[in-house]
Amino acid sequence: MASSVGDIVDAFLKPVTKEGLEAISSRLLAQFETGLAKEKHDGEVKMLITYVHNLPSGEENGDFLALDLGGSNFRVLKITLDSENRDISQVDSKFSISEELKKSDQDRLFGFIAESLNNFKKENGITSKLPLGFTFSFPVNQTSLTAGTLIHWTKDFKAANCEGNDVVKMLRDASDARKFPDTDIVALVNDTTGTQMAVGYSDQDCHVGVILGTGTNACYTERLDAVTKFNGDRSQHDKVIINTEWGAFGDKGSLKDVITEFDKAFDSQPEVENGGSQIYEKMISGKYLGEIVRHAMLKLINGGVLFGGKSSDVLKKFEGFKSSYLSDIEKGECMDVLKNKCGLDPVTEQDCEYVTQICRAVSTRAARLAAAGIVTIVRKMGREKKCTVAVDGSLYKLHPEFRFRMRAAINEMLPCNGVIIKESRDGSGRGAALVAAVAKQ
Ligand code: BGC
Repeated sequence: MASSVGDIVDAFLKPVTKEGLEAISSRLLAQFETGLAKEKHDGEVKMLITYVHNLPSGEENGDFLALDLGGSNFRVLKITLDSENRDISQVDSKFSISEELKKSDQDRLFGFIAESLNNFKKENGITSKLPLGFTFSFPVNQTSLTAGTLIHWTKDFKAANCEGNDVVKMLRDASDARKFPDTDIVALVNDTTGTQMAVGYSDQDCHVGVILGTGTNACYTERLDAVTKFNGDRSQHDKVIINTEWGAFGDKGSLKDVITEFDKAFDSQPEVENGGSQIYEKMISGKYLGEIVRHAMLKLINGGVLFGGKSSDVLKKFEGFKSSYLSDIEKGECMDVLKNKCGLDPVTEQDCEYVTQICRAVSTRAARLAAAGIVTIVRKMGREKKCTVAVDGSLYKLHPEFRFRMRAAINEMLPCNGVIIKESRDGSGRGAALVAAVAKQ
């Protein structure tokens, strides 16, 4: 059991050396294969078929609506695609989703979405029935581009009576119950697919979409030949985008040599909605990193190593140490965070140095694990020499070091690669409109 700062840093970083990442990558690849083979399997990752077969050509035109549900905010957007100028413009409204709404029920959650859409149409004078793309960033078992059941909630959503139900139907029912005008829902999209499409609009080499935000996930273009479980019409297409749902990697033990006592301590708290699942996601994504650091700090406080053994009320609380503090601390604001945001007193320079080391270890592990996932996908496609990876999400965009550490680990695993990482601009909004546009054609 780690009890000094050095031990704790080692516990996080020793499993993610280059060799460690290679071992993790082989296990992830095996999980990918299992997920692609059969509809019902006992693997860890779902490898969901998106029914999106092509990147946008760049010729898409017109006005579209998009809905985006998946994190702490919900958005409604009107997106205009202008192929002549390769331009995308948008008007949007953002609503924060309260914790209460996340844990409400089908009618309240989807009623809220339907009402927000209806108000948005009124406010923006939209009277025609524009095609709509719905970005719904949870695992969905799709049977077509416009139908799919929510397998289970992730992140901290828990609305009752939604799991196992068709997402598009739940929205239609909520809308009909409120007698709102009919909506032309033409695409149900995961945020990873939206991200890949948004970059793919101007880059035909974009074969991967990755989200590093509240949650994490990736999708990629797979040969239909490799998707044994696909039982649709194979005559029309030779490839399909697969939503890996890689966040669940590790759920049946594949990451047991990477998990630390701090991962376990945070995941076993009653406040965590999905304890024991989404293991890879919990080691990587923004929603969880603060909790991992908090548990490592609590251990050092109990051992008298930090803050003279004295904790604070903030630090004792679930999510008392926010994930955004990892960014602040790596930007050099440690004293301010510990004293003013966490209410710790006294705080010495030594305390700051120790806490910074822990934050660095936790975010480095996350970046390196994400890199292993990306390399696994690039290798699986055989595109090591040329491939654009579209990335979106607050962790990637806001953490000062994450992107550099992730890039470095990709280069360690794939020397001389041709992997280009491109930040996607609003994949969840624009991407959904692009999928809708491709579907409409
Ligand atoms: C969900 C994915 C989603 C990811 C990023 C995960 O919790 O299962 O569907 O793509 O979060 O938003």
